[in-house]
Amino acid sequence: MTNTSLTFDVKTADRLIWQGQVVMSRSEAPYFWELFDRVAQVVRPARVLEIGFGLGISADLIQRRLQPAEHHIVEIDTGIYADLVRFAGNYRGVLAYLGDWRSVPLAAPFDLVFYDPFDYTGEPDDAVREAGLLRRLVGKEGALCHPHFGNGPPRVLPGFRTVVLERFTVPEIDMADGTNCRHAAAVLCYPEN
Ligand SMILES: C[S@@+](CC[C@H](N)C(=O)[O-])C[C@H]1O[C@@H](n2cnc3c(N)ncnc32)[C@H](O)[C@@H]1O
Repeated sequence: MTNTSLTFDVKTADRLIWQGQVVMSRSEAPYFWELFDRVAQVVRPARVLEIGFGLGISADLIQRRLQPAEHHIVEIDTGIYADLVRFAGNYRGVLAYLGDWRSVPLAAPFDLVFYDPFDYTGEPDDAVREAGLLRRLVGKEGALCHPHFGNGPPRVLPGFRTVVLERFTVPEIDMADGTNCRHAAAVLCYPEN
């Protein structure tokens, strides 16, 4: 898949629902606020890549909290990409790309990659291939950040060392499968040598 034009059940400024699944909801905003607060204490990235624009909540916080010189954002859905283009028009240094992050040419390496896509395919993840691509995007010196929900162990990304910066509770988040979650963490993943 290079890019796609999906029909959402709901597409508002607060919710993206596709085939009954919550792709993104504003209930994640307090978590993202806490997350980028913690991340900003550890990294000061000049070049950020964000994978998946969604409602633009993290994009807005990355601009406010991290103030990168360059903020590249890649989005696969054409309707959401139109929102991203509008967002990019309001900030200097925001560059919008349409397509699948796995195949769009991106100007790696980045100091920070914020990885928050949503799987529309239902196919099992190829974790090793994805982690390999992500490693190329962060180069030797960069870091990867991804949302972590729940109080379980962080996901294993082959070739990365994951550091849990902090665990905390947040107001209820609507999860993709319709459940709710009040536990989250800020994690950063560093490429292993
Ligand atoms: C969970 S939402 C991102 C939420 C976003 N961080 C926010 O704050 O609103 C996931 C986004 O990733 C996009 N996406 C899914 N698969 C993708 C892919 N392979 N490449 C690029 N974007 C993708 C979706 O269309 C959706 O906009």
